[in-house]
Amino acid sequence: MRVAVLAGGRSSEHEISLASGEAVRDGLRRAGHEVLDVRIARDGRWSHEGRPLSVVPGEGLLDADVAFPVLHGPYGEDGTVQGLLECLGVPYVGAGVLASAVCMDKLVFKQVMAQAGIPQVEHAGVEDVRWRNERAAVLGELERLGLPVFVKPVALGSSVGIVKVSAPDELGPALDQAFAHDPRAIVEAMANGLEVECAVMGDREPLASQPGEITVHAEWYDYEAKYTPGGMELVVPARVPDAVRERVRELAVQTFRLVGVSGLARVDFFVDGDEVLVNELNTMPGFTQTSVFGKLFEASGVPYDELLDRLARYALERSERERAYRH
Ligand SMILES: Nc1ncnc2c1ncn2[C@@H]1O[C@H](COP(=O)(O)OP(=O)(O)O)[C@@H](O)[C@H]1O
Ligand SMILES: [Mg+2]
Repeated sequence: MRVAVLAGGRSSEHEISLASGEAVRDGLRRAGHEVLDVRIARDGRWSHEGRPLSVVPGEGLLDADVAFPVLHGPYGEDGTVQGLLECLGVPYVGAGVLASAVCMDKLVFKQVMAQAGIPQVEHAGVEDVRWRNERAAVLGELERLGLPVFVKPVALGSSVGIVKVSAPDELGPALDQAFAHDPRAIVEAMANGLEVECAVMGDREPLASQPGEITVHAEWYDYEAKYTPGGMELVVPARVPDAVRERVRELAVQTFRLVGVSGLARVDFFVDGDEVLVNELNTMPGFTQTSVFGKLFEASGVPYDELLDRLARYALERSERERAYRH
């Protein structure tokens, strides 16, 4: 296959995407595919082999059979690029427009999960306009969550903009900071216990990996812990009872289907004893060879290169299926 790998992007996760993109290009080549290197600069400009890239709706992308948007965060993992790829008419790896958008928005994602009775942390959404006009009322409503809480912009990744608040007077500044990124924030009660992650892949019948456990030296899994060498350690399988491990895998697949993801996802959990809470679903998790997603499948018997090969094939399968629908 001729696979166009899109990397970079407009979000603060630009550099991480470049590293993921390089690993994906190498792996696809080793799996026998032809690779086209498409870069998206921080300002949003696309290029291929150093030259600006223009696209025409309906005319595909560089004659690629499949596009692989290895992009994280806003304008990459949130349905925008997926929408453009739909307009170009090129099959692409990973979630479509709606699922990408839902999973990028922590509040909407939690609302969808709540509707289906999926266990998750107590939380509340806060809008910047309300925060400006009714500060005291907002603070009063947030009291039910207790302390500590995690304050987050609703649509970022890599822990950017997230603050753990342990004292009442830190809550206001944390919200102010969240609103520098997004007009909406989410405030969550703190979950105790382990952080467990489960990788999922497939089209209509997704397959869950062995769950892995994240251990960090820091207080929580912040940006530093994620990207400083040695900042985190992945233990596979997670050190939880068999029944809990199965519950994680089952919830991972259930969540994947509920939001209508396709291709791949990494579903993240908090596990406290027997209690398993869904934290979030990442539609394009970190994708280097040492990233959690690849390691979880490697530990489950699917080596990295084969994983990439399968993902490209799922993209074709989905595109063929969707083309058969009448609209
Ligand atoms: N409600 C919570 N309880 C405990 N820890 C949390 C909670 N929310 C976030 N964290 C910590 O912050 C990290 C990043 O939060 P997350 O919601 O996963 O954002 P991101 O999309 O940036 O990864 C988590 O991996 C965890 O360490
Ligand atoms: Mg996370």
